[in-house]
Amino acid sequence: VDESVAPRTLPGRTVEALAEHIKSGQVKKICVMTGAGISTSAGIPDFRSPDTGLYANLARLNLPYAEAVFDINFFRRSPEPFYELAHELYPGKFRPTITHSFIRLLNDKGLLLKHFTQNIDCLDREAGVPDDKIVEAHGSFARQSCIDCSMPYPEEYIKLHIEEKTIPRCELCKGLVKPEIVFFGEQLPASFFQNRMLPYESDLVIVMGTSLTVQPFASLPGMVREETPRLLINKERVGGFGSQADDVLLIGDCDEGVRKLAKACGWLKELEALWAKT
Ligand code: APR
Repeated sequence: VDESVAPRTLPGRTVEALAEHIKSGQVKKICVMTGAGISTSAGIPDFRSPDTGLYANLARLNLPYAEAVFDINFFRRSPEPFYELAHELYPGKFRPTITHSFIRLLNDKGLLLKHFTQNIDCLDREAGVPDDKIVEAHGSFARQSCIDCSMPYPEEYIKLHIEEKTIPRCELCKGLVKPEIVFFGEQLPASFFQNRMLPYESDLVIVMGTSLTVQPFASLPGMVREETPRLLINKERVGGFGSQADDVLLIGDCDEGVRKLAKACGWLKELEALWAKT
């Protein structure tokens, strides 16, 4: 951490100092920003962790490069690899983690301004984070449509094809039908651009489980007022965290990190009970 910059609000930049600040009632509008790292303990691989990350385990798909599986131009030519992967990634088989429950708890306490996620697994929804508090910056499997004429299709239509490993095509124009997850080369949903200034209104930013390598999402943690404390809970230090006066870094597993913060806030029993019901 940049020791030359003295903390303004959080002496020692510790989790305990952050918990005191939260308990003081001065924190009312938290922006949470998450990536695949918060779903790994649910059994969904992240993308870039060495060995366990998805991009290190796609050899069987014979891709020119790993990220091609989520590239819109590659998909137009060769949709098979994505649909084979979709079969494994399709939501519904995974249970939310305690980290997802922590985000729900923040909302139950009236402290959540918005949850920006890059994840497409909808585990935050399943943990009880309300729809109006979620921005799925990279879309989700919630809807699917034709990539040429935008004709929408019901989930059953695509589920059937994914189960049978056949390629869903549009009945109108024969174009490829794809879940509305954002591929490389595609625009992010309007909801991202409508909400991307919200971090400036927040009084605490919590970033968890992301390498902050993919733009424009990776710019979000920097879109804050200088006096806004920021907490990073991640296995590795990312995104220049430590450069701002009140950056708190919890380097390690996010499920452990949220337990540590919840304990310091006096919320651990409540959090464990909430997760146990999920
Ligand atoms: N606890 C804390 N951090 C974790 C954990 C965990 N249990 N597991 C993984 N991490 C960290 C990794 O160390 C890494 O820094 O989470 C981060 C995951 O980074 P990525 O795999 O790059 O995932 P993400 O940041 O969500 O990727 C962004 O890339 O491929 C695109 O569109 C895709 O949304 C995705 C985007």
